[in-house]
Amino acid sequence: MAVGKKILELQKKREKVLLGGGEQAIEKQKAMGKRTARERIMALLDDNSFNEYDMFVEHVGRDFDMEKKSLPSDGVIIGTGTIYGAPVAVFAQDFTVAGGSLGLMHSRKITKIMDHALKMRMPLIGINDSGGARIQEGVNSLAGYGEIFFRNTISSGVIPQLSVILGPCAGGAVYSPALTDFVFVVDNISKMFITGPEVIKTVLGEEISMEDLGGARIHSEVTGNAHFFSLSEEECFEQIKKLITFIPWNNSKKARMFEPAEPLAKYNISTIVPEDPTLPYDVKDVIRAVVDNSDFFEIMELYARNIVIGFGRMGGRTTGFVANQPMEMAGVLDVDSSDKAARFIRYCDAFNVPIITLVDLPGYLPGVDQEHAGVIRHGAKLLYAYSEATVPKLTVILRKAYGGGYIAMSSRHLRADFVFAWPSAEIAVMGPEGAANIIFRKEITSAEDPDAMRKQKVEEYKAKFANPYVAASRGYVDAVIEPSETRRILMHSIEVSENKDVPMPHKKHGLPPF
Ligand code: HXC
Repeated sequence: MAVGKKILELQKKREKVLLGGGEQAIEKQKAMGKRTARERIMALLDDNSFNEYDMFVEHVGRDFDMEKKSLPSDGVIIGTGTIYGAPVAVFAQDFTVAGGSLGLMHSRKITKIMDHALKMRMPLIGINDSGGARIQEGVNSLAGYGEIFFRNTISSGVIPQLSVILGPCAGGAVYSPALTDFVFVVDNISKMFITGPEVIKTVLGEEISMEDLGGARIHSEVTGNAHFFSLSEEECFEQIKKLITFIPWNNSKKARMFEPAEPLAKYNISTIVPEDPTLPYDVKDVIRAVVDNSDFFEIMELYARNIVIGFGRMGGRTTGFVANQPMEMAGVLDVDSSDKAARFIRYCDAFNVPIITLVDLPGYLPGVDQEHAGVIRHGAKLLYAYSEATVPKLTVILRKAYGGGYIAMSSRHLRADFVFAWPSAEIAVMGPEGAANIIFRKEITSAEDPDAMRKQKVEEYKAKFANPYVAASRGYVDAVIEPSETRRILMHSIEVSENKDVPMPHKKHGLPPF
C-alpha cells in the first residue's frame, strides 16, 4: 500500500524532531561518553516497549529572541514502557536541546508523565541531564520546578521514584532527585550541586572542579545523596533494571516472586563469624549465605560502610537487609549509618518489603564529633523507623548487641516480630571489659594484683551476661539457633508473617526526628 501524503508528513516531522539539538550537539554529547536522551530510554527499557508522548511540544519562550528558536520536544522526552515486563513511566532530559534546560513546556511534560505514573501506580524513572532553570523563561522555570517537587512529594511512598543523574543537575534542580527514593550516578558523567564552581569562586574565592564539588564519587562516598555508583551508562542501566526486579510497582503490591534458589555452597554460614568478638568479618558474606542464589543487591555501598543495606530474596520473596558491618569501625552506629539505615527501613515499610536485621555492634560511636554532629537526633531516626515499620521484622543477633545498639537494631522492644540469637551472641549493657571496670572498680583497685582481679571479674561478667540466654529467659529473644538453622527459620518467619496486620493509633502523621 502506498504511503499516504499525510503519513509522509508525519514521518518527516518525526525525523526532524528525532534530531534533537542537531548533529553538532549530538557529537558533543557523545564525546563526553554520553548517549542521547532517546538512546538512553531505549537502552533502559525492554525492546520495542517505549511509547513516546508530547514529541511535538515546543517551547513558549518569547523573550531574548527565543521566539525565533525551535527547541524540539522542548528538551525532554517522556513516555511509558516496560522493564522485564514491569510497566514504568520515564522522562529523559535532552542536553542537546538548550542544554536540557527546564522551561515551562519542558516542566509540563515532566509533570504530565509524573501524573500518569501516580494515577497508573507505576514506577517513575527520571533521567536528569540539564543546565537547570531555563534562564530566558524566568519565573516560569521556577514554577515548573515547584510543580515537580510537589509531585515528587505526593508520590513518595506510593510509587517508586528513581532518579538517574547523567550529566549536570544544577541549582534547585537537585531537589527533585533528593526527594526521590533512589539516585543513580555515573563516574565522570554525573554532576550535582546547588551552587556551581563559578559561584563558589565569586562568593568565597575558592577554586574547585565540578567533579570534586559534586561528582559521582563525592555523592556516593561523602554526601550520601546517591544510592548507586557505576562506571558507565551501561552499568548504570543494568543496576536500574535489577532494582526494578526487587521492588513492587506501587505501595499496594508486593514485589514479584521469583523461583526460590539455594545460596551458593561457598558461603558456609557456620564459619564466617569468628568466635573472638574482637575479630572482624564481612557481614555481607552472612547475608550471601542466607539469600537465594547468594545474590545480595547492595544499596549505598560506598557510604557509611559501617552499616550494610540492600535487597535479597528469601525463597523467592524480596527482603530488605540491614546489617552492622564489623569490618568497618567495628560496625558502630553513628550519624551517617543511622540516616542510611533509617531511610531504607522506611522504604521497605512503605513498599511491603519484610526486613531482616543482622546485629553485631558495640553500640553508638562515642566522641565530641558525633555528639556535635547530632548523633542524638540522627540516631533517633533509626529507633523511629524500626518502631513505626509494620512490615514483618526479623532480627538475628550474631555476636555483640550492646547498650543502645541492642535496642536500636530492631529489638523485640521496638516490635520485632521474631528475634533470634546465635550461641555466640552477647546481649548486655556494654562490653565485658568496660562493664567489669565500672562495677568492680573497688575490688580491682584494692586487689593485690589488680590485673589478675580485672581478668577474673571480666570472666565472671562474661559468664553471667555475655551470652544470649539471659535475654532468652525473658523472652526478648525467641530462640537461640545454630547458624546453620538461620535461613530455614527466617524463611519460615517470613512465610508465617505473610498476612501481618498491625493497627496503629490514628494520626495525620508522626514527627520523626528529621
Ligand atoms: C538556558 C542553557 C542553560 C540554562 C545551558 N544552556 N544551561 N540555556 N538556561 N540554564 C544552554 C547553553 O546556553 C548552550 O546553548 C547549551 O545549553 C549547552 O551549554 P554549554 O554551556 O555549552 O555546555 P557545557 O559547557 O557542557 O556546560 C554545561 C553547564 C553550563 C555546566 C550546565 O551550561 C552551565 O553552567 N549552565 C548554567 C547552569 C546554571 O547556573 N543554571 C541555573 C541554575 S539556577 P547553545 O545555544 O550555546 O548551544 C536554577 C534555579 C532553579 O536552576 C530553582 C528551582 C527551585
